[in-house]
Amino acid sequence: MRNDSLSPEAVPDSLAGFRPPTSPATSRHADGTLVDKYGRHVTYIRLSITDRCDFRCSYCMAEEMTFLPRAQVLTLEECLRIASTFVDLGVTKVRVTGGEPLVRKNVLWLLEEIAGLGGLKELVITTNGSQLDRFAPGLRTAGVKRINISLDTLRADRFRAITRVGDLASVLRGLDAAQAAGFQRLKLNTVMMRGSNDDELVDLVQFAVDRAIDISFIEEMPLGEIGHGRQSTYFSSEEAMALLEQRFVLLPSTESSGGPARYWRIPGTATRVGFISPHSHNFCDSCNRVRITARGELYPCLGNNDASQLLPLLRAHPSDDGPLRAAIVHSMGIKAKGHDFTSQMDAPQVVRFMSMTGG
Ligand code: 5AD
Ligand code: SF4
Repeated sequence: MRNDSLSPEAVPDSLAGFRPPTSPATSRHADGTLVDKYGRHVTYIRLSITDRCDFRCSYCMAEEMTFLPRAQVLTLEECLRIASTFVDLGVTKVRVTGGEPLVRKNVLWLLEEIAGLGGLKELVITTNGSQLDRFAPGLRTAGVKRINISLDTLRADRFRAITRVGDLASVLRGLDAAQAAGFQRLKLNTVMMRGSNDDELVDLVQFAVDRAIDISFIEEMPLGEIGHGRQSTYFSSEEAMALLEQRFVLLPSTESSGGPARYWRIPGTATRVGFISPHSHNFCDSCNRVRITARGELYPCLGNNDASQLLPLLRAHPSDDGPLRAAIVHSMGIKAKGHDFTSQMDAPQVVRFMSMTGG
C-alpha cells in the first residue's frame, strides 16, 4: 500500500510543525549521513528526470504508454533542489535515470549543476544509448563520471523486437562516441530473457571484452503490468553463470557498489561481469540507495510501494528547503527491510514501471 501520510493534499498542512525524528537510528546520523531504521547508510540516490523514453522495451513498458502531463513532472530546477538537499545530507553519488534521461530538454544544464555540488563524489547516468552519439562529449564536459548503457542484444532484428522501435546501430554509434569522448568504465546492462536473448550472453560478454568495458546481467523484475506473464521468460543469474563459465574464466571480485550487483573478473581482460539477482540473492541488507521518480516521489525501496511525495513540498515552499529536508530525513523511517520479488513475478504488487522509478 502507498503510504499516503505525505500525499499531495496532506503534505503542507501535515508538515506544519513537523519535526524530523531526532533518533540517530532513523535520521541524519552524527557523521552527516542518512541512516535508516536498520542502520543502513543512504549515500546514493537514483533520480529519474523523465518518465518518457524513445524506446518501448517490452519488459519495461506497455505498448501504449500514457506519459505524465508536464505539470506533474519535476522541473529541472526541482530536480536540482532535490539532488542538492540529498548531497547536503551526506549523499555522495547521484545517478540520473529515466525513462530515457537524454530525451529531457536541457538535461546538460542539470547534469552540470549536479556535478558542481560540493560534497558530491560521483555523478553517473543510465541511458538507452539512442542519443549518446550527439551527447557524449557534452556529458563529459558536464562532469558525468560514468555511463551505463542498456543493451540486451547485438542483433538488429531482435533489438527492434525487444525495444519495439529502437535502432541498434544508433546505440552502437553512441557507445563509440562515449568511448571516443574518453569515458572510462562504460557498462552495459543486459536484461536476461529466456527465449529472447539467452543464447547471446556469451556474445555480449565477448563484445564487452573486445571493447574493454563492463557488463551486468539483470534478472527481470516484476515492475508494472506489461500484459504478459514474466515467469516464462525468467532467466536466472545461476544459469547465466553456468553458460558463461563454459567460455570464460570468472574470478569473484570483492568489490561492491553497495548495491545488488556481484562482480566477476575475466583474467587477462579489463572486463568485469556483474549479476543483478533480485530473485536468487537478497541484497537488501547492504542497500545504500533510494529512488526519486520523475513525479517527485521518494521511494526508499524499489520493491515496496511506500513513498513520500516531494513535489507538493517543493511547490509549497519554493524558497525554503527545510520541509524537503525534513521529509527526506523522515523517509529513512519507512525504508523497508527488504523485498520479495519472486513470489510476485506474474502479478506484480509493485505497480509502477521501471521507467517511472528509474532503473
Ligand atoms: N526488470 C529488470 N530490468 C529492467 N529494466 C527496465 N525494466 C526492467 C525490469 N522489469 C532495466 C533496463 C535498463 C535498466 C535501467 O533497467 O533495461 O537496463
Ligand atoms: Fe526506455 Fe529503458 Fe524502459 Fe527500454 S527499459 S523503454 S530504454 S526506459
